[in-house]
Amino acid sequence: MTKKCLVINAEYLYKVLPNIAEYIDLLYEPIINNHLILVPLEDNSPLEKLKALGNITSCTPRKRYLKKLKARDIVKPYVKNSDLTHIPSSYEIIGDVILLPPLSNSILRLYGVLLAKTLKMLHPRIKAVYVRMGTEGEYRIRELRLVWGEPKQYTLYREHGITFYVLLGKVYVNPSLSTEHVRITELVNDGDRVLDMFAGIGGFSLNIATRKKALVVAVDINPWATACLLRSIYMNRRRLKAEIIALNCDAKILPLILKHKSFNHIIMNLPHKSLGFIREALELLSENGYLHIYLIARDMEEALGKVEEKLTSLGYICNNSNIVKVLDYAPYKYVFRVTCNVKAL
Ligand SMILES: C[S@@+](CC[C@H](N)C(=O)[O-])C[C@H]1O[C@@H](n2cnc3c(N)ncnc32)[C@H](O)[C@@H]1O
Repeated sequence: MTKKCLVINAEYLYKVLPNIAEYIDLLYEPIINNHLILVPLEDNSPLEKLKALGNITSCTPRKRYLKKLKARDIVKPYVKNSDLTHIPSSYEIIGDVILLPPLSNSILRLYGVLLAKTLKMLHPRIKAVYVRMGTEGEYRIRELRLVWGEPKQYTLYREHGITFYVLLGKVYVNPSLSTEHVRITELVNDGDRVLDMFAGIGGFSLNIATRKKALVVAVDINPWATACLLRSIYMNRRRLKAEIIALNCDAKILPLILKHKSFNHIIMNLPHKSLGFIREALELLSENGYLHIYLIARDMEEALGKVEEKLTSLGYICNNSNIVKVLDYAPYKYVFRVTCNVKAL
């Protein structure tokens, strides 16, 4: 199909990319001809304005087969070779919002509009694209910076048929945990009592309560996280098989405030600090109960070693341990889950 193309010097392209990105027709591949690049334009582009940046010509670019392409492949012809490694190859879709991994200011300035336009084309239902800046502070929140779209306060995120209410930028949410939510759910039996010590918006708690007739107590220190969970409990009320009790407090005080102290499973998903709460968890665990401890380590041996050392120092052993690598954390560091059937020494 014949289209209007902007003919531009490849070097100059990087200078003007933020100004032309919104007019590029991403359904077509650019034509690269030595040092020139012919950029296919959207039909309604302001040609008079674009003429100031390069010649406008008619061209017949190749149509892209979008089903096979990832966002990175689509933007690649417009990216400097030296910048390619900084273009994200993956991103998170949370409801109608996309979260990009952390990007530097210069990459964002140069390619932000193009990336957002590409994502919008691949996922027409999204309303906003944010960059997440890293996980911060006690609440493990990722600060978000809007790249495209209307600022959004909340979104509804679906996981295994459950709807989660998510206040953006105020709570921890990580779709990469969805498999782990199911793995833990499968370990719980009807009739069990489960304590989700660092529940966040209730990833484990809601998965368990919609599939098992177990009592779930979900605790988080972040009031926004507890507010989201309460809202999600209400939204999923018809699917719940079990009761979830949501508490907003520091997990340290649980032995003092919980009347029932015999939980069959205690989930401790606060990887950088979980070992510091084992003493409290042991006070709340039933005889023969299971601790599911998330922690950061280089390998399985190190993860198990840290848990065993802590338990032994408190007079317990980790029986029938099961260790799973759950997430990448940093170069050569991972989040592991160590599940222990705990026994007194
Ligand atoms: C990794 S996130 C939990 C994610 C959640 N389990 C999920 O599956 O989506 C850790 C949570 O621990 C909470 N937290 C941090 N310190 C805490 C404490 N002392 N007591 C209770 N919750 C705490 C944070 O607010 C955060 O929501």
